[in-house]
Amino acid sequence: MIQYHFPTVLFFGVDSLNDLTPAIQKKGLKSLLMVTDPGLVHIGLANSVKSTLTSSRLNIDIFDDVHPNPLEEDVTLGVKAYQSGDYDGIIALGGGSAMDVAKTIRFMAVHKPPLAQYDDAVGGDAKIVNSMPPLFAIPTTAGTGSEVGRSSVITIKETGKKTIFFHPGLMPDIAVLDPKLTVNLPPHITAATGVDAFTHCMEAYLVDSFHPMADAIAIEGMKMVVENLPKVMENPNNLDARGQMLLSATMGATAFQKGLGMIHSMAHPLSAKFNIHHGLANALLIKFCLEFTIDKAMKTENKTLQEKLNDIGNIISCDTLSDIGNIPDIAGTFVNSIGIVLGLEKHGIQADHIEKLGQLAFEDSCHATHPFAVNQDDFHAVYTRAL
Ligand SMILES: [Fe+2]
Repeated sequence: MIQYHFPTVLFFGVDSLNDLTPAIQKKGLKSLLMVTDPGLVHIGLANSVKSTLTSSRLNIDIFDDVHPNPLEEDVTLGVKAYQSGDYDGIIALGGGSAMDVAKTIRFMAVHKPPLAQYDDAVGGDAKIVNSMPPLFAIPTTAGTGSEVGRSSVITIKETGKKTIFFHPGLMPDIAVLDPKLTVNLPPHITAATGVDAFTHCMEAYLVDSFHPMADAIAIEGMKMVVENLPKVMENPNNLDARGQMLLSATMGATAFQKGLGMIHSMAHPLSAKFNIHHGLANALLIKFCLEFTIDKAMKTENKTLQEKLNDIGNIISCDTLSDIGNIPDIAGTFVNSIGIVLGLEKHGIQADHIEKLGQLAFEDSCHATHPFAVNQDDFHAVYTRAL
């Protein structure tokens, strides 16, 4: 038996934020805690969204103790804030970090600490049993797709490890995709998050499992990024292209219920050890992982994989692909075209870091669904190429 999961309700379009208050009130809710990050409070976006959503019958308070790589203490403080007020629901406003903290507050508000016991890696999902308060997600970046996802990642204090929590109940009730909320993103974040969305679609498509619906979504998602990310980089106020990027991010997260692959396994240690933005880490690796994957597909005469790589090549090249061997360079050129300079050395990585990075990438679980087995030496070789 295979379980297929598709997104939560999406409100999509310019000013779709205005439709959220009536939808919340329809559910009989009166007071919500908005979980966001201090950056969004600083630029005034959190307060602007708060005033759009507040009405005579709907109270909203802001909680912004959220770190860029969220910590257990963020959740502890958030749960305390939630329980000390008379709240009946949660709003997540921001990028992946605010979403992850909000989702974790959502289940910890109705479950006993410690948080570590709910770790998905030790079967903690089975302990998430109580009914949770409603959650409404408002992304301000177009990349992670966390607004339609069923997991959160928090660093546990005791172990210092990024820990995954997973439960279908973590999926927001409604996600609002309003492109106006993403126009103020700095260009390098727009580029990096956009490549993250593309990588989710691409890696999900390459996963060798039967899921034609996710595959169709992944293909369309890749096309949308290739068409719209350059437009957004050229004109940050292009609301149509911004909207398409928001949708492609949700499509990536929908498609990767199939799994991800070696790019994410290699990107994770770059972020954890060297604080490289997650999307940027993917962007620095995509060309070299494709090179390695194509080489393997040719040597092993894996026709299914070759066909999928060919599909990806046609999408990135806008149907001008003449040879499968050209795909890595075309991907590299695309990444360059949105302002990202390749070369791990330019981002603080040195040759003597690679041994450890290779080990950490191998320990990461994402490559379990790469279309073929990847060993520690392979990771070492690809990091070296990407240097
Ligand atoms: Fe990602």
